[in-house]
Amino acid sequence: MTTTDVAAPTRAEAEALDRGDPLARFRERFVLGTAGADVVAYLDGNSLGRLPRATVARMQQVVEHEWGNRLIRSWDDTWVRLPRQVGDLIGSAALGAAPGQVVVADSTSVCLFKALHAAAGLRSERSVIVAADTDFPTDRYVVEAVADQRGLRVRWVSPPADGGVDAALLEPALLNDVAVVALSHVDYRSAQVADLAAITAAAHAAGAVAVWDLSHSAGSVPVGLDAAGVDLAVGCTYKYLNGGPGGPAYIYAASRHQSGLAQPVPGWFGAADVFAMAPAYHAAAGIERMLSGTPAVLGLVAVEEGVRLVAEAGIDAIRAKAMALTDLAVRLADAWLAPLGVSLASPRDATARGAHLVLRHPEARRWSEQLAADGVVGDFRNPDLWRVGLSPLTTTYVEVWTAMDIARSVLADLTGRPA
Ligand SMILES: Cc1ncc(COP(=O)(O)O)c(C=O)c1O
Repeated sequence: MTTTDVAAPTRAEAEALDRGDPLARFRERFVLGTAGADVVAYLDGNSLGRLPRATVARMQQVVEHEWGNRLIRSWDDTWVRLPRQVGDLIGSAALGAAPGQVVVADSTSVCLFKALHAAAGLRSERSVIVAADTDFPTDRYVVEAVADQRGLRVRWVSPPADGGVDAALLEPALLNDVAVVALSHVDYRSAQVADLAAITAAAHAAGAVAVWDLSHSAGSVPVGLDAAGVDLAVGCTYKYLNGGPGGPAYIYAASRHQSGLAQPVPGWFGAADVFAMAPAYHAAAGIERMLSGTPAVLGLVAVEEGVRLVAEAGIDAIRAKAMALTDLAVRLADAWLAPLGVSLASPRDATARGAHLVLRHPEARRWSEQLAADGVVGDFRNPDLWRVGLSPLTTTYVEVWTAMDIARSVLADLTGRPA
């Protein structure tokens, strides 16, 4: 990070960016806090997206009418179709996936467990899962568990802390014993965007299948699963898809694999005829075979409303704003925070990073806590990172400017250095 004489963008510049923002109108489609709300800048939409106004109305309608009045009949009316219907919407709005390849179910951890078992089953003669030892904890734990259960080994690759995986790093690991390559598209710490198409192609060239976790890219970065020939993918809905706390996750399986996929939790909702109550399990022909138990209807309808906003805004416009927001934050950090000892732990090139940024400082924990107390809500990440998520549908440029302004004065106070 440059430390001398970098001119900070002015507040007037941030205001001009807001005036010219084609997505500005989306902010008011979200609940921005009722009286007494103390948020000055919300920089955590990469952990929990804001609440869409439409979700409030939809939840009320579903609870009062569909549940309260229609009761069990609502399963036939609409509910039974929701996992596939919302999956198709996520597929088209955020994943570059044609219909019939995505269902919404379970949590990301459980979807990943199912996806990895199914993927390993496609290469049952092989013995290795390749994964990154810097990946999100649940990904590492699930990779290890699936490897254990199937008698496979994990070959870990170690991306640089402030970067992420790339094809060159993976190449030595992609030997002819690899069954599955399991990686995250956007690194949860650094925000580096992996080259999903190149890595998927490299996995295929080695005879392996590629499984991607899209939790930090869906709704912030175009994904292009079909175009890249990805085999399976999973992700959460509560970040940039605004699906709500603990909202159900999604699982993608390419059409070409579906008839051969065996997943480890063969419940009745994944069966060919859900209500036949057949004596033995026969998997549904299509993507529904990745389902297990009764879908979480209230969670599903919230996801549908969140994703509708992404579909309406368009993923390319969202991506363009994410790059501009993070660029503004980087320029402000260069001018104001670098002189206080802060360094950038994310790619400097906007095209190489997702919609969040990570800033490193030895006092990051106290810094982040004080900022949260002052209404600037970001994330602390062990041991010395402050992570800020910039959600293109809700974050304004002035919000970023204000947050960075407060961040510099809090850090100056903490370190006893002039801001
Ligand atoms: C990359 C990644 N995978 C998975 C998860 C969470 O999984 P789950 O939905 O099972 O809690 C997160 C949560 O932040 C994540 O960042």
